[in-house]
Amino acid sequence: MGLISPATVDRILDAARIEEVVGEFVTLKRSGGSFRGLSPFTQEKTPSFYVVPSKGIFKCFSSGKGGSVVTFLMEHEQLSYPDALRWLAKKYQIEIEEEETSPEQDAVRDRRESMFALNAFALKQFGEWMWNDDHGRAVGLAYFRERGFTDETLRKFELGFHLEGRDAFAKAAAKAGYQAEFLEATGLCIKRESGDLVDRFWGRAMFPIHSLSGRVVGFGGRVLRSDAKTAKYLNSPESDIYHKSQVLYGLFQAKQAISRANKVYLVEGYTDVISMHQAGVHNVVSSSGTALTLDQIRLVKRLTEHVTLLYDGDKAGIRASFRGIDLLLEEGLYVRAVPLPDGEDPDSLARSMDGESLNAYLAEHEVDFMQFKVEALTEEGAAQDPIRRAEVVRDVVQSVAKIPNAILREVYLRDSAQRLGIDERNLYAEMERIRGAELKNASQRRPDRDSYEDPSPPEMQVQRPQAPRPLAVEDALVKVLLQHGSDRVRWTGPDGLEQEDAAAALILDDLSSDELAFGHDPYQRIYLEMLAVWSAEERILGPEHFVRHEDPSLAATAAECLTERYQLADWSRKSIYIGSMEDQLSNHVHECLLRFKEHRLEDRIRASVAALSALTDPADREAKLSEFVRIQALRNALRAELQRVV
Ligand code: CTP
Ligand code: MN
Repeated sequence: MGLISPATVDRILDAARIEEVVGEFVTLKRSGGSFRGLSPFTQEKTPSFYVVPSKGIFKCFSSGKGGSVVTFLMEHEQLSYPDALRWLAKKYQIEIEEEETSPEQDAVRDRRESMFALNAFALKQFGEWMWNDDHGRAVGLAYFRERGFTDETLRKFELGFHLEGRDAFAKAAAKAGYQAEFLEATGLCIKRESGDLVDRFWGRAMFPIHSLSGRVVGFGGRVLRSDAKTAKYLNSPESDIYHKSQVLYGLFQAKQAISRANKVYLVEGYTDVISMHQAGVHNVVSSSGTALTLDQIRLVKRLTEHVTLLYDGDKAGIRASFRGIDLLLEEGLYVRAVPLPDGEDPDSLARSMDGESLNAYLAEHEVDFMQFKVEALTEEGAAQDPIRRAEVVRDVVQSVAKIPNAILREVYLRDSAQRLGIDERNLYAEMERIRGAELKNASQRRPDRDSYEDPSPPEMQVQRPQAPRPLAVEDALVKVLLQHGSDRVRWTGPDGLEQEDAAAALILDDLSSDELAFGHDPYQRIYLEMLAVWSAEERILGPEHFVRHEDPSLAATAAECLTERYQLADWSRKSIYIGSMEDQLSNHVHECLLRFKEHRLEDRIRASVAALSALTDPADREAKLSEFVRIQALRNALRAELQRVV
């Protein structure tokens, strides 16, 4: 058997969630940001086994064992390292690329590892220089503090300072035993013609750039003297371990928050990311001043389909950024924008207000991207100049044409036509023309694109349901019904009054009033039976009833729900509910209900897409379209509510 390719190893480690994997063997309970359980290695009675997802580690205090998700599998399942990786690859459905290793390949791998090791050393060194060196403190640390970064922020982003001098770093690294070859390869130093190595980043404030799994792949360095005649930021060059087009700054720190919020804010710079984090908005990343690439978009897409762009107020910035956005639309992402006040960037905005106001600002000013684009373009005096106007139309239609979802395209087109004051039919014709040409190009240009192997029509492809999510939420709801049906939950009613009732009562009333059904048949039957008894006698059927049910398949389902380790569903695993048990359950139920409805609406949206393409009569289409728009509005309102709750 060949060796698992390094790229595959990276993919596996990026996908693996330690709490999920350990959770397959150990019953874990959340406590704060970590999980706790009984050690699987000893016979302990009180839990001293911890899993810390943010760090990707476990620690067992009774046996002293600890390590990564891979170490856990090696210890617990007695697997070899490659077998532990294969185990994970299977669980996360990652295809393993294998390599026969030749001596040269070994050398390449060793080389990459050496570069990572050197970057790790550099990170430590820059931290040392900033925190502990007198000069570093006076210049580097003082600079960051001047910008308002707290110590906590500095540590979270592992910021540092590079001492001045010609070769302070080169010397330190050599002294610590790192080879000159890698100093040059990582770009930390530059080789002069004389053969001397000199530091690239001397005298700069240092921003490490992390891979998704947290390894340092490169650095950005900001000049500190304002009179300097050199670029404000210097970045590590491309190397064997740093591919700019495949990295998003801040993603490592933001990934959990992004999937939790089901949304990412995209900003331009390092400091924008950091300041927003400090203000409490954690789901933010930066493409570091360059246009977005397909690889970057796909990184994001694994976590969320909702991207919101934050723009500097100035027009040039906005126009420049439009270019990268079509790619987002093309990948089927939902794109929104928050225009910022003139002269503000996300960094300055975040510093000018507290976290709550920042969140409120973002929520209030967020607009759909196409709407934003049409408005921004028409503001530029296009109304008077017919040639300019034709350009705007073309520009807008070109963006709309990129959207893979037919219905969304149609909605956008109508909306844009209205805003531009142009007959919709003209836009439609223009779009079909562009799409015809582009689709042909695309299939020639990117034959590897997986969606082209999908037999369903193109507009359905992005709509494919994302694996087990609907099931996960049904799962969670039925578990609450069975495990916590009689426990009290609190919520705020439509009249604004706080109400309290049994969890099952809330769920049954809510689902039945919306006439919602479970897709999984045994769940639906459990639900209907509970509902019948609840409506007739206001009594909540307990779990015993179902476990002893005459229908063995219901009994089995109930038993499964009750004995199965309490695992929160995929999406809620990432949520942290704070407060009393009652608060936690209330939040959980509320979130489950919202998610469930979101899924059902999503199903209906899919159904109307399908129905629409079958309709030929314009009046029917019109009716279906407005139904679609209505459902979509409902769904969006739900999403907004979810974002508020979670
Ligand atoms: N950038 C770069 N090289 C430059 C200028 C900018 O790589 N010479 C990138 C950096 O990632 C920077 C981003 O583009 O963070 C945005 O640039 P800019 O708005 O000028 O920087 P800020 O992040 O606002 O930096 P600061 O607030 O420190 O001036
Ligand atoms: Mn700035």
